[in-house]
Amino acid sequence: MLNIAVCVSGGGTNLQAIIDRIADGTLENVKIAGVISNNKNAYALERAAKADIPAFCVSPKDFETREAFHDALAAQLDALHPDLIVLAGFLVAVPAQIIRAYPGRIINIHPSLIPSFCGVGYYGLKVHEKALERGVKVTGATVHVVDEGMDSGPILLQKAVEVREGDTPEILQRRVMEQAEWELLPRAIGMFANKKED
Ligand code: GRF
Repeated sequence: MLNIAVCVSGGGTNLQAIIDRIADGTLENVKIAGVISNNKNAYALERAAKADIPAFCVSPKDFETREAFHDALAAQLDALHPDLIVLAGFLVAVPAQIIRAYPGRIINIHPSLIPSFCGVGYYGLKVHEKALERGVKVTGATVHVVDEGMDSGPILLQKAVEVREGDTPEILQRRVMEQAEWELLPRAIGMFANKKED
């Protein structure tokens, strides 16, 4: 059984895709040990609660220093004993102390075809705004291993999505989620589950 911890910040549609694939049997031998958000208002926490998954908020607002927040986030992750940490719309830069504690065992979903439209400042809707500004005809999503850079770790899976005439950032974001993110992230988790023996 692959024990995963899912880190979220917003709506949690990627978390929901993982929950749904486990429920429909597409994603086997995976258990979501817990969901952690930096944002107490994240709807993703409601999604976890509805699925009876332990949900925790570790907010930087509750700590005097960034280091104290990082230590609390690390402690909460460690308490779940994850084999794999999944960043699903998580807007916090994962500190090096956590990346070093879980080498090759943290993955992230990014809403573009890396190396396009990624790095500092490229997250959420902004990624799609830049893709439309540039006039690309194809965009998509990427699942990659998290290293100490920003969106710079080894790429695991990618899927292309067409950009259509008249797309707004919101329309394009939704298409990339529906056609790429919600398929790729469960598939990437399955790659780790298949590698794990017991
Ligand atoms: C989306 O923009 C997604 O592309 C990115 O994080 C944002 C929120 O996703 N990964 P979610 O609905 O919270 O999963």
